Amino acid sequence: MAESTFTPRVFSGIKPSGGLTLGNYLGAIKRWAEMQGKGIETIYCVVDLHAITVWQDPQDLHNGTREVTAGLIASGIDPATSILFNQSQVSAHAELAWIFNCVARVGWMNRMTQFKDKAGKNAEKVSLGLYAYPALMAADILVYHATHVPVGEDQKQHVELTRDIAAKFNHDYKVDFFPLTNPVIEGPATRVMNLRDGSKKMSKSGESDMERINMLDDADTIARKFKKARTDPEPLPDTLEGLAGRPEARNLVDIYAGLSDQTPEAVIADYAGAGWGRFKPALADLAVARLAPISDEMKRLMEDPGELDRILATGADKAEAIARPILEQTYDIVGLVRSR
Ligand code: TYM
Repeated sequence: MAESTFTPRVFSGIKPSGGLTLGNYLGAIKRWAEMQGKGIETIYCVVDLHAITVWQDPQDLHNGTREVTAGLIASGIDPATSILFNQSQVSAHAELAWIFNCVARVGWMNRMTQFKDKAGKNAEKVSLGLYAYPALMAADILVYHATHVPVGEDQKQHVELTRDIAAKFNHDYKVDFFPLTNPVIEGPATRVMNLRDGSKKMSKSGESDMERINMLDDADTIARKFKKARTDPEPLPDTLEGLAGRPEARNLVDIYAGLSDQTPEAVIADYAGAGWGRFKPALADLAVARLAPISDEMKRLMEDPGELDRILATGADKAEAIARPILEQTYDIVGLVRSR
């Protein structure tokens, strides 16, 4: 199928659970903001239905949805340019997910590494929703016929599954209806690692708060976390190759590159031979300079939840206008009677 028969459209989503991290910002949100205003429609979604695949306290979920919305706007997502909404307000996502549950194969789901990581040894006890999660994610994307999905490295397998679901649907129903979506995984910080263990990704749910930088951390906390970040005794090398086998060092260089809009090579060129006593404070200063205006704006926006809710409602109306006709056509293709 020619991918170019579909108008380019960007879609991406983020869960409103546990606050935002520097990994979310560099791997996704910052790049979402940069994709706006380039003549391609951009649709960004706070995926509350994905969040409840694991237990969420209702009040925390409610607040978290507004907090993430505020974080997206504060990071430069413009609700007048992009469509910004929360998933549960557009029921077409959940409806298409059911169709995709009937397209995706159990064997495909069994290969999802994120499910295996999250379920661990407890696979019998996790929710059915956690298992089916990638089919809902495919529905999020394909209900807009989105062609490009900017995500961090950890979501690559899910976007590839989305392509498999689209291809199988098109094949089974002998149509050319869903596009084969491309993951867009770009920049120096597509996999920001845990500050205490360079073999694990930075995540909202890690055990210790020292592992991650939260978007709402204050300047002192950011400085302390970088100061205590695990490294090795060596100074920075003069080439990027010199960071091979030094995951914690590489991570801090990549974070610096992401925050300063430089390549990791350029960062190494500036700091060749520098010890951690020089590099870590410079990184902390840079992070504070970049994140403080965002967290200040986030806090300001969160003081007016009514306005955030209005933004989400307007976004949901716009999203619905695209999604509903695509869902209706899907029902027609599948052979479901629509008589009212
Ligand atoms: P979520 O909420 O875990 O993360 C949101 C985005 O942030 C990226 N990200 C990272 N990037 C780099 N380094 C990290 N340490 C890091 N941690 C998180 C993620 O890759 C993601 O892009 N399943 C998705 C949400 C989703 C979605 C979608 C995404 C639902 N439907 C449709 C795209 C399209 C998730 O759990 O993201």
